[in-house]
Amino acid sequence: MGTHIHPIFDKLVGREERETFLGQKSKVLWMTGLSGSGKSTIGQQLERRLLELGFFAQMLDGDNIRTGINGNLGFSIEDRQENIRRIAEVAKLYLNSGVIVICSFISPTEKIRAFAKEIIGENDFLEVFIDAPLEVCEDRDVKGLYQKARAGQIKDFTGIDSPFEAPDTPALVIETANLTIEESLHKIMNYLLPLIKA
Ligand code: ADX
Repeated sequence: MGTHIHPIFDKLVGREERETFLGQKSKVLWMTGLSGSGKSTIGQQLERRLLELGFFAQMLDGDNIRTGINGNLGFSIEDRQENIRRIAEVAKLYLNSGVIVICSFISPTEKIRAFAKEIIGENDFLEVFIDAPLEVCEDRDVKGLYQKARAGQIKDFTGIDSPFEAPDTPALVIETANLTIEESLHKIMNYLLPLIKA
């Protein structure tokens, strides 16, 4: 070790101590799915539900990431990879401070998600596929973006002219075309609660 390095790891408050302080186990719930599949809606309600139950949770999504830390990134595959890399690193910082993190990003390819899993760690990365057929997402078109993508006004749009690979082995699949929001939340909570209880 270099002479000018003064490690302080033994003096820092570690993850376990923080988890004890917060009365929970921290995890990263990683939602993947098409634009309009329901990730943000579910994530927002899940975050609120967890807080109401006394858990300390934080959702990361495009609103607080792509406008801030990742404001310089677009939607090429390279930029999406960099987007997800930074998000995974941020999620890991939260994780190590004992917080339950809800990530809501398309994260369109197996490679991108494997990268996130590697950064966060296999045991703490809980992959949830928010699964709705493209036709349903396009029909909802909450932000009007599919229409623009079809008209050629947006390039590299996921599901239209940029790929989305469904995850091979997600921990959980939520079919939002067949479930109400309440049912979706219920399913996620049933899965998540045993993993985050102190
Ligand atoms: S990711 O592919 O890098 O994971 P991310 O989840 O951060 O994507 O951002 C997706 C959101 O950005 C969409 O819900 C949509 O509102 C917006 N968006 C703008 N352009 C595109 C595009 N070309 N493809 C997908 N989403 C886009």
